[in-house]
Amino acid sequence: MVGQLGSETGIHERTDSTYERAVLGLKNYWWPVLSSKEVREKPVPAKLGGEDVVFLRRSGRVYALSDHCAHRGVPLSQGRHEFKDSTTITCSNHGFTYDCATGVCVAALTDGPDSPVVGKARVRTYPVEERKGIVWIWMGRMPPVPVDQDIPDGILDDDNHVLVRIRGLSDNKDKVRPGNWRYHAENTGVGHFPVLHRYALSNLLNPLWAHTTGAGTIVREEPDGLYVVETAEGLAKQATYPGLGVWPPARPWRRFGIGRFDEKAEPTTVSMRLPGIVRVTRFPTDVSVYYEWWVPVDESHYQLTQIIHEKRGGIFTRLWRYLKYRAYVTPLIVHRLIDQDGAVVQAQTKKAIEDDGANPMSRDFRPDSFPLAFIDLCNKTARGEVQGGT
Ligand code: FES
Ligand SMILES: [Fe+2]
Repeated sequence: MVGQLGSETGIHERTDSTYERAVLGLKNYWWPVLSSKEVREKPVPAKLGGEDVVFLRRSGRVYALSDHCAHRGVPLSQGRHEFKDSTTITCSNHGFTYDCATGVCVAALTDGPDSPVVGKARVRTYPVEERKGIVWIWMGRMPPVPVDQDIPDGILDDDNHVLVRIRGLSDNKDKVRPGNWRYHAENTGVGHFPVLHRYALSNLLNPLWAHTTGAGTIVREEPDGLYVVETAEGLAKQATYPGLGVWPPARPWRRFGIGRFDEKAEPTTVSMRLPGIVRVTRFPTDVSVYYEWWVPVDESHYQLTQIIHEKRGGIFTRLWRYLKYRAYVTPLIVHRLIDQDGAVVQAQTKKAIEDDGANPMSRDFRPDSFPLAFIDLCNKTARGEVQGGT
């Protein structure tokens, strides 16, 4: 087991570490940030990892640039495509025109074709790739690794149906979630599920367990990367808490749901990997695998990129899947249940900001071996340099 519980006092004290500095995320990884269909010729502004970025499409290809013109900082997302046959964007103010691939200023319209700033002024560009209808961006300063290296197994598999939900950014700004991405990572795992999600609408008919026995965490090298994997010896249905009584109370109706507590079934496993991804097997349905990226927007906001894959199947499987997701899985689990986590993350971030921006100290308990192992993984193996947040 890694991710030791804190000091002898049981308090997990935070120190200066890669994880502590990563307020704005681990940038030397590919982040899935937009769906491809959102990016057309018209620029799309976004804040990611504390930086203002503009996405646009030219000749079928997606480009990402800093959203601040090198002249007076006017957002390039307000710019226009003046030269239709070129891969450029022209600032709406004085007409600095940038090559989207290099970020170099190739014309300054109101200064004439011989303007001396041509070839000298430039804006930052970010590597972008498209895979499975998703735009992936590399925000880091080190040269990018091949994008497929950062995409977990199954997502690129042609035999799989891949469902993507990106909750936030350009399509729906108010869905940028309040909270720092790390609190979502720390709230992941079996330590919260049977309490926080007990009264989620999708669980009201489900016989959730009381607690795990022998909770632990292992670090596992898998073909697609290094994961921390949550383990448990068993799940107790009910328990007697001294002086308090039995919990959870028996509820006869809690057996009619599409249960997540089928003792005979292969258990759901929850794992995390860098830069901030959770993988849940047999979730949100018994035949799917769920991935969720916590993509940092700024210190106190993040977006969720949720990617789910299931085997493709024939026409009836596809029809059943469509109906199931429309009527139940997407509204009740992919949205509402995960929003319960979001509310916790928001509250924790608010408290941390009130407490001078510090991560709160936490009094760890045994199931915390899982998020602590993730923190450990981050501190020991994060790619590239991690800059502080503010
Ligand atoms: S501010 Fe962009 S060209 Fe002047
Ligand atoms: Fe949760």
